[in-house]
Amino acid sequence: MVKEYIESNKARFIEELFELLRIPSVSTDKKFKDDVLKAADFLKDKLNSLGVDKVEICETPGYPIVFAEKIVDEKLPTVLVYGHYDVQPADPYELWDSPPFEPEVRNGKIYARGACDDKGQMYMHIKALEVMQEAGELPCNIKFMLEGEEEVGSEHLADFVKDNKDKLSADVILISDTDIIDNDNPSITVGLRGLSYMQVEVTGPNRDLHSGMYGGTVANPINTLCEMIAALKDDKGRIMIPGFYDKVLELSQEEREEMNKAPHDDEKYKKELGVKALEGEDGYTTLERIGIRPTLDVNGIWGGYTGEGAKTVLPSKAYAKISMRLVPNQNHKEIDKLFADYFKSLAPESVEVKVSSHHGGQPAVVPTNSTEIEAAKQAFTEAWGKEPVLTREGGSIPIVELFQKELKLESVLMGFGLGEDAIHSPNESYGIYNYLKGIETITLFYKHYAALKK
Ligand code: BES
Ligand code: MN
Ligand code: MN
Repeated sequence: MVKEYIESNKARFIEELFELLRIPSVSTDKKFKDDVLKAADFLKDKLNSLGVDKVEICETPGYPIVFAEKIVDEKLPTVLVYGHYDVQPADPYELWDSPPFEPEVRNGKIYARGACDDKGQMYMHIKALEVMQEAGELPCNIKFMLEGEEEVGSEHLADFVKDNKDKLSADVILISDTDIIDNDNPSITVGLRGLSYMQVEVTGPNRDLHSGMYGGTVANPINTLCEMIAALKDDKGRIMIPGFYDKVLELSQEEREEMNKAPHDDEKYKKELGVKALEGEDGYTTLERIGIRPTLDVNGIWGGYTGEGAKTVLPSKAYAKISMRLVPNQNHKEIDKLFADYFKSLAPESVEVKVSSHHGGQPAVVPTNSTEIEAAKQAFTEAWGKEPVLTREGGSIPIVELFQKELKLESVLMGFGLGEDAIHSPNESYGIYNYLKGIETITLFYKHYAALKK
């Protein structure tokens, strides 16, 4: 019934997602404010039309949270669905093969900003509710909590969660905002990295100078910044910040062997990324470098003259944005401070250094021997014909740890994205196969979860 219903309604399911994808709900850029609000309204209307008990647009000092619930029977387990309707900026627009907010299908994939992260994945849950209602029964109560600030750090969601514990009471949280290994190897994410994101400013002389008149007499802040950045890691890929690894949870040899059983091919990986060699912390495999080891990366660096031609200038200032991905049990606030202290200590007397932090988030791991992971495994096995592997991913969803701490609830990270979907990049896409298979898998999660909870 479920499969037939999805099959016969797929054109409409895709068209509805297209409508949502046409709304440029970019949360980082105030220019799109009305569109972000419009996306929230769109979801409210769609949930309303499914006959849920209530839908609310919950205002916050930032973008609203769309909350909805359908209580079938107080005795049934309750699943709280989380997702985000905001997207990353689409820049640089010129690298898109079709406009980012005019979705189109090519080779079985939907191309648009947010197609996978997270509109496509979030909307599967709304359609799964429709399918369950129309094709059979709804075996659990459902609540939805959809936010518009995930890509800017979920700042106001934290307060919302703390202030609305009763409203959000549930047995488990269900999230589709992660990846599977590939369509032949379904997987469930059981670990996410945290994030510490810093900005640094290095100032040399009080104004830009003629590089001939002054070059060689005062510090060039760009040169100095590069030297300081170079001192953040050693030649083995270890981060040199004192205390950085103190709280890192080391996995046992057995755990590491287990995680390396997941299908992965470095040769294929290199080819896909167009690199001749990989680079990372010595002594760890690619899967370990992504899943269980922290990293440090410069995300952007600027200063001086970057226009056309050559301008002989010794700049006054240089800047960089530097992020660190964290693993259990590192704490992003502590890491912010360790970074700031160490970075300042690297500065020679010839420059001034300012360090500030952007939003960050905690890493999370979820227990793997739970009822909900068992239900998710059964759902994947039934829908995909193959038992899913448990993986740890490198990305961050900071609210997972917040849900554990504040609501005492674990999350099932049942994402259906692929690496090739290019989230945050130009030409983001989401496979129609994954969209429809995802809807089916979600309905099966409810079925198995309800059965296991009986
Ligand atoms: N959906 C991603 C996170 C993700 C993607 C996790 C793929 C695992 C696999 C999420 O929208 C995201 O982009 N998170 C940000 C962090 C946030 C604090 C801005 C990230 O990971 O950079
Ligand atoms: Mn996301
Ligand atoms: Mn994202």
